[in-house]
Amino acid sequence: MKRIGVLTSGGDCPGLNAVLRGVVRAASNLEWEVIGFHDGFEGLLPPIQWEVLDLKRTAGIMHLGGTILGTTNKGHFVAKVGDGTRTHIPPDVLVKAKATLAELRIDALIVIGGDGSLSTGLQLQEAGIPVIGVPKTIDNDLEATAMTFGFDSAVACVTDALDRLHTTANSHKRVMVLEVMGRHAGWIALYGGLAGGGDVILLPEIPFDHEIVANAVRKRDSDGCLSTLIVVAEGARERNGRERSRAVSSGENKLGGIGEAVAAEVAQRTGKETRTCVLGHLQRGGAPTTLDRILGTRFGVAAVELIAEEKFGHMVSYQNYQILDVSIAEAVHRIKLVSPESQMVQTCRAVGISFGD
Ligand code: F6P
Repeated sequence: MKRIGVLTSGGDCPGLNAVLRGVVRAASNLEWEVIGFHDGFEGLLPPIQWEVLDLKRTAGIMHLGGTILGTTNKGHFVAKVGDGTRTHIPPDVLVKAKATLAELRIDALIVIGGDGSLSTGLQLQEAGIPVIGVPKTIDNDLEATAMTFGFDSAVACVTDALDRLHTTANSHKRVMVLEVMGRHAGWIALYGGLAGGGDVILLPEIPFDHEIVANAVRKRDSDGCLSTLIVVAEGARERNGRERSRAVSSGENKLGGIGEAVAAEVAQRTGKETRTCVLGHLQRGGAPTTLDRILGTRFGVAAVELIAEEKFGHMVSYQNYQILDVSIAEAVHRIKLVSPESQMVQTCRAVGISFGD
């Protein structure tokens, strides 16, 4: 009989509990025991915080947002700061984490996290702890997997927000600017913007010009459509401009503020009444969509299978409707960005969406 550990690390997202439930169900079929660590990797440090995850504890959690284990994107294990610079986990911290796993007789550790947390997982693996990764992020910016769970739920939230903004924008003939998450990638803005009927979508990958955005608003007016919805990714920037940040936390820039800047320019250039909405953490909360529940469950089951196959240092990945695996080392060095030439961008342009370029 094996005993495996699992933890959720980094920013939370819908679908984490579906993964935990999938892990426990697959493990219990093999008669393995599952230990869940609290608050990400922090739970590995004294005073160690953990609980047994069994069928009873994980019953009825699939539809719950967040994570029953708690998580953090701060603390002793931060492996990525600033614009992606990697840092080394202090050796004494690694020693303590190893001691915890030895004390609890954990044979392997499943790390559910994004780019930063998987980088930490890789350092644990290099320190001799058998690690399996499960990629997670609403940003969908990991190259090694076609999709991460949480993304679809975030896109659904953006779509719902745009539906709501649409009716009030129409009533007042206003311009509404919606700032959405995604960090340095524009996936949430692109998919949410298309699904919610956005007229302008501004992405980090396609630097924009305020006058071209203003022209798109003027064109809407001349077409008789007197309201305009503008979706701005938090990492979007003007041509020759820089990403805006609202704070620094654990050495990392927290992006934000571009929505207000776009709204001010639009108002000044077009004379239209303009309002801004920053969707923020609503995109990370709430119940996972059907797709995220299924993807999360498949990832959880696949992670247990990788332990059975002793494919340590690998993470599960979604490609062409199949769950495959890739080495974590390979995965964490590649960020997936929207290609300005992609079919999705072309489709948006074909339905008249402006990217401000
Ligand atoms: O990576 C997920 C994400 O939600 C980003 O889209 C966003 O920039 C960031 O995390 C927000 O982080 P925090 O929860 O620390 O404010």
